[in-house]
Amino acid sequence: FEGMTIVELSKRTGETIPYLQQILANIGESFDSEFEPISIDIAELIAMEIGINIRRLHSDEGAILLPRSPVVTVMGHVDHGKTSLLDALRQTSIAAKEAGGITQHLGAFVVSMSSGASITFLDTPGHAAFSAMRARGAAVTDIVVLVVAADDGVMPQTLEAISHAKKANVPIVVAINKCDKPDADPQKVKNQLVSEGLMLEEFGGDIQVIEVSATKGIGLDLLEEALLLQSELMDLKAQIDGPAQAFVVEARVDRGRGPLATAIMKSGTLSSGNRIVVGAEWGKIRAIRDMMGKVIETAGPSMPVEIEGLKGVPLAGDDVVVVHSDGRAKMLSAGRKSKVEEYRLNKKSSPKSVKFADND
Ligand code: GTP
Ligand code: MG
Repeated sequence: FEGMTIVELSKRTGETIPYLQQILANIGESFDSEFEPISIDIAELIAMEIGINIRRLHSDEGAILLPRSPVVTVMGHVDHGKTSLLDALRQTSIAAKEAGGITQHLGAFVVSMSSGASITFLDTPGHAAFSAMRARGAAVTDIVVLVVAADDGVMPQTLEAISHAKKANVPIVVAINKCDKPDADPQKVKNQLVSEGLMLEEFGGDIQVIEVSATKGIGLDLLEEALLLQSELMDLKAQIDGPAQAFVVEARVDRGRGPLATAIMKSGTLSSGNRIVVGAEWGKIRAIRDMMGKVIETAGPSMPVEIEGLKGVPLAGDDVVVVHSDGRAKMLSAGRKSKVEEYRLNKKSSPKSVKFADND
């Protein structure tokens, strides 16, 4: 982003140079020359003013992109075994084996395999969080695991999950669960899914189906392999260096530690001490914790982290942006808060004005 000038910004946004200079004047910035470089947070302020997404200002040119692990959400009908499956997957991680099990800590966890590969699972109550995030344009999930109980088959929330995934353009891997049950009928489930329009591999499509039992621990390795294969097909990559981009998956207030946000890193490196704007909130990062609750100094792509140090509680789907100073963070946060307020007062205006990020 270094070296962005008003001229360059004008090219990328399609707005005239005098108009951009006017905005700069309004936010109390004066520039001697339209060729003078401006910082990313000023560019973001301008972007916010003209209602475009800052991400579009970023250019990937010259950036080194490295493979990153997939971020996976588990969805499915009530009681089909989503929680059981996540618990079982969590315990397959080598980290869990070394530590004698990973206890519930964040709304997300990473399964690291002996091959060196890893998968990030979102642990949030599926549909609600997914919808909230999608509505806010946060494409945090790369793959959806659709859990269908082999003894119950396709049910209303199964269809809902399929429709969510399709709308978000996120590929599905099917886990037919409870295959240990005597009345399990995986073939029937497959037929149902096909008649719902899912192109299963077995029928010449590209959706993988794995038969599992969460409680008996059967098929978990196959499911993980299927997810890695899917992610390889998607060629998931991220920039490792540079300022962090992340999305909030859940947030809460802890009595002693204040507001805490669980976020999934999308790209770049997040560091303790960074000034961040998260949705309409801001803060200086006091501590970053990993999924084991261990304090870490930095975090990279696809990692779930818990961020401590925000002044308020952000929303699921909010984006995390790093800025250079407290002043900038406050200004951005205030600007966004007033945008939110404006939208509340005038529901007619485009919801774009409260959507701070979309992941294109
Ligand atoms: P909600 O969160 O309420 O939507 O349910 P869920 O999808 O998270 O299902 P959960 O994991 O709570 O499992 C529901 C019930 O099914 C529990 O009694 C589990 O023990 C049982 N169950 C889950 N997986 C399996 C399985 O593979 N085999 C058998 N036999 N039972 C299972
Ligand atoms: Mg559950």
